Amino acid sequence: MPPESPRRPSRALSGIQPTGRFHWGNYFGAIRQYIDLQPAADPAAARGAEAVDEAYYFIADLHALTTVRDPARLRTLVHAAAVDLVALGLDPVRAVLFVQSDVPEVTELTWLLMTVTPMGLLERCHAYKDKKTRGLPADAGLFTYPVLMAADILAYDATVVPVGEDQVQHIEVCRDLADKFNSLYGDVFMLPQPRLVVGGAKVPGTDGQKMSKSYENTIDVFEDLAAQKKKIMRITTDSRPMEDPKDPETDHLFELFSLLAPAADRDRMAELYRRGGFGYGEVKKALVEAAADHFAAARARRAEIESDPARIEAILAAGARRARAKAGEVLDRARRACGLARGKPAPRPRGVRP
Ligand code: TYM
Repeated sequence: MPPESPRRPSRALSGIQPTGRFHWGNYFGAIRQYIDLQPAADPAAARGAEAVDEAYYFIADLHALTTVRDPARLRTLVHAAAVDLVALGLDPVRAVLFVQSDVPEVTELTWLLMTVTPMGLLERCHAYKDKKTRGLPADAGLFTYPVLMAADILAYDATVVPVGEDQVQHIEVCRDLADKFNSLYGDVFMLPQPRLVVGGAKVPGTDGQKMSKSYENTIDVFEDLAAQKKKIMRITTDSRPMEDPKDPETDHLFELFSLLAPAADRDRMAELYRRGGFGYGEVKKALVEAAADHFAAARARRAEIESDPARIEAILAAGARRARAKAGEVLDRARRACGLARGKPAPRPRGVRP
């Protein structure tokens, strides 16, 4: 019998911007997936589970520089982001947790990719296009943002990228650039796949649009409970009379409730909607409680982790070392392939085109 070909390791990679505190959209769209995917502590127990072989998660401070212009605030936000991720369940032993700018290999890789990036591709990307349509000034950082994101992904040979729906276009750009580079220089990069969660890919905000800091409709994961309650009580609802039966599936308040409440409570609430004769105020009160319960353990963990800032900085330093080792390997492959590394032969084709 021919020997079995070695299985390609599965590797998850994702980044999150420290442009403010994490909101429910970030958590239910992305962070929850980071945690589900991280390799199991006991690999034997992981068989059949969703976990990948390796996971890399980073705080995208270079991307955040396109919006956060206050250095002290950026430093504080990066630290707080790491505290939040660990409190929410990201385990820095099972996953590599690091800060984007601690891996300079990625910025060099960005340049290599930039040389194969068609302008038209970037002109179609929504972050830049939205700003332009709103008549806001856009800089080259925002315009080339998807190339840096492509380098982020390709630098770690990522196979799967857990994200919310709004990032899918950027992953398609990443695949296009990897393909272009590979067709010019040989099999250098792996082509990643986005991973979305059912029910969380586009979490609505308090006004029913996608939850986003730029729409000022967010509810933060670790927000002070009184402030959170105020925001929840102000969630927009329609003005149908109380007696009318309502369809839970088309209501953003119900969508939020179903993300936060246990399944049995969600089913009971859906039943109430269909029956009618209740006010949205009751749903909001139930949502306030569900949100407090859902994140109670994470809040307690957060308070404990926050009291030891040196521990978080040590986690990030160790993560940067592990991330640099992997990114250095990929960058070396790319440099040799395109003729930058004199005296070093081009890499052998890897023969694994996903
Ligand atoms: P960012 O920081 O805007 O968002 C972080 C993650 O949260 C998801 N998300 C949502 N998901 C569902 N519903 C929502 N309302 C919602 N709002 C945000 C986002 O889809 C994202 O997964 N460009 C990225 C950061 C990045 C990155 C990367 C991601 C930089 N390099 C490489 C993946 C791979 C961003 O701005 O995400």
